[in-house]
Amino acid sequence: MDPIANPYTPGAGSRPLELAGRDAELRQFEILVGRLRRGATEQSMVIKGLRGVGKTVLLNAFQDQAESQEFLTYYHELTPESSLAAAIARDAERALTRLSLSERMTGKVRDGLAHLRTISLTGPEGFGLAVDLSGADEGAVTSDLTDLFLAVGEAALSKERGVVFLIDEVQFADEVQFRAVVSALHRVTQKSLPVTLAAAGLPQIPRLSGEARSYAERLFTFPTIANLGEAEARAALLEPARQQDVEYEAAGAARALEWTAGYPFYIQQLGKHAWNLASHAPITAVNVEDAIPYAVEALDSSLYEVRVQRATPTERTYMRAMAELGDGPYRSGEVATKLRRPATAVSPTRQDLVNKGLIYATEDYGFIDFSVPRFDEFMRRYMSFEEPPGG
Ligand SMILES: Nc1ncnc2c1ncn2[C@@H]1O[C@H](COP(=O)(O)OP(=O)(O)OP(=O)(O)O)[C@@H](O)[C@H]1O
Ligand SMILES: [Mg+2]
Repeated sequence: MDPIANPYTPGAGSRPLELAGRDAELRQFEILVGRLRRGATEQSMVIKGLRGVGKTVLLNAFQDQAESQEFLTYYHELTPESSLAAAIARDAERALTRLSLSERMTGKVRDGLAHLRTISLTGPEGFGLAVDLSGADEGAVTSDLTDLFLAVGEAALSKERGVVFLIDEVQFADEVQFRAVVSALHRVTQKSLPVTLAAAGLPQIPRLSGEARSYAERLFTFPTIANLGEAEARAALLEPARQQDVEYEAAGAARALEWTAGYPFYIQQLGKHAWNLASHAPITAVNVEDAIPYAVEALDSSLYEVRVQRATPTERTYMRAMAELGDGPYRSGEVATKLRRPATAVSPTRQDLVNKGLIYATEDYGFIDFSVPRFDEFMRRYMSFEEPPGG
């Protein structure tokens, strides 16, 4: 059928026509924004999930909800190189500018920011900010971010607006900066100011300890989003086509649901190819079967190969050894055994893979897993495992 009319959305962060199975999170966020507008507080969310389950799409949906309530929103995707505090300071600067504050409020905000140590106003007027964290201790970063959030909150309140920071790939946040942001947010929340932050990332979000940890537990829930359940996966597959009066044959839908196993990225990719291959409605089991090799190829190039290319040969060998063990999670010690190396010798490689976001440490101590579903299958077809000599 017409590829121009294709209703599927395989692609990082591409909004699906049917955002299936995320009602609870959407509702929680709606309540959060509604309550902030009334000067009340509510828990926000740090969404955890593997690659391709729909974290970015969900943050984008939060963004739309917040904007529909006149909140200013700022979305950031962190990388291993980025600075969370600098990203937030930049957004705060944009928010303060966009609020078109009264002269009195402008003066008040500038006065509030004048004495900070790590964040400084760059000009004689306006809200240009420079961030310099070099040599700053955690206390200084925390108290400066607190004052910045308070200034943003009061400014937003004076305009009956609010501000939402959306932080994607939060697993890349520096632990110290993340703690500082959490503590600062705790303070604005105590003052019932309309500022909040929602985040998403791989299951291994930055570790929090001490006070920041208990603040975080009060400020956020940490829902895990995963593969869609049966009914939700069905909706994700069928609804986009149905909007154009295209149905699936029962056997075609069943095969597609079986193959995609509720994984959103697979549903979009297979749906797209089945649609393109079908000559007319309904989409048949044959269309779905024929689409599978195309979907595999597209997933390899869009999801898997880009990731494996980020790894060094040594890291690839490590991942291949994981895959040799079958389905995850994997005990790190067993991976080392597969490689015939002492655990301590391969642990730097394991850590590099964690830092690159290719694998993560599961909640069970000593276990790791791939951050992309079915990555083990991919590794097995991508390269062969060479039994190390000896043993
Ligand atoms: N709830 C959903 N229903 C249907 N399709 C979805 C849903 N959530 C996401 N998708 C689709 O799944 C794909 C992946 O979504 P998204 O990029 O948000 O995942 P992600 O978790 O952010 O992945 P990554 O960790 O790689 O950034 C996209 O093609 C998107 O259209
Ligand atoms: Mg994402």
